[in-house]
Amino acid sequence: AKLAVFASGTGSNYDAITEAVKYGKLDAEVALLVSDQPNAKVVEKAKQQGTPTFVFEPKQYRDKNAFEEKIVNVLQEHKIDWIVLAGYMRLIGNTLLRPFEGKIINIHPSLLPAFPGLDAIGQAFEAGVKISGVTVHYVDEGMDTGSIIAQEAVNVTDKMTRDDLQQAIQQVEHRLYPETIQKLIARGESQ
Ligand code: GRF
Repeated sequence: AKLAVFASGTGSNYDAITEAVKYGKLDAEVALLVSDQPNAKVVEKAKQQGTPTFVFEPKQYRDKNAFEEKIVNVLQEHKIDWIVLAGYMRLIGNTLLRPFEGKIINIHPSLLPAFPGLDAIGQAFEAGVKISGVTVHYVDEGMDTGSIIAQEAVNVTDKMTRDDLQQAIQQVEHRLYPETIQKLIARGESQ
């Protein structure tokens, strides 16, 4: 299966996915990296690795529909089967959703439906929850609202700082995301 990873930032999940491919744990190809942030670290990494990239600046397009139309064209050129969001900081609109219905997934650093949106780790930490975790879910037009595919809990102990929680959650993400993608691909599943 051909994956397009969408990312706006550091790309530690992008790394986890490319490593899983490299070590034969994920039977897929990261065929494209899409980013809305030309200066993101993840873009630099993909370029170094020779992974094709599509990097765009939203403000250079008329509207969201216009850049999503362009993205759909690029995805089709690269014969992409699955869209994997990994820290992509934008909502997906209908233009991109419709042709890839059931083939777009996201990872979120909380046990959804708790703490959707920005800074889920900070939100959970501030709320003082004793259990948080990671969710992989299908993407719909909402913010972290699509149906849930996989979840794993992370205990928040009393001596943990916010950074400790972030580390613990990221560790789970880097294992759970490649594992879940592999299961979806193996099943040939769409929602
Ligand atoms: C991850 O915590 C992911 O759950 C969230 O954004 C973060 C991206 O981190 N959606 P990275 O860029 O993969 O390091």
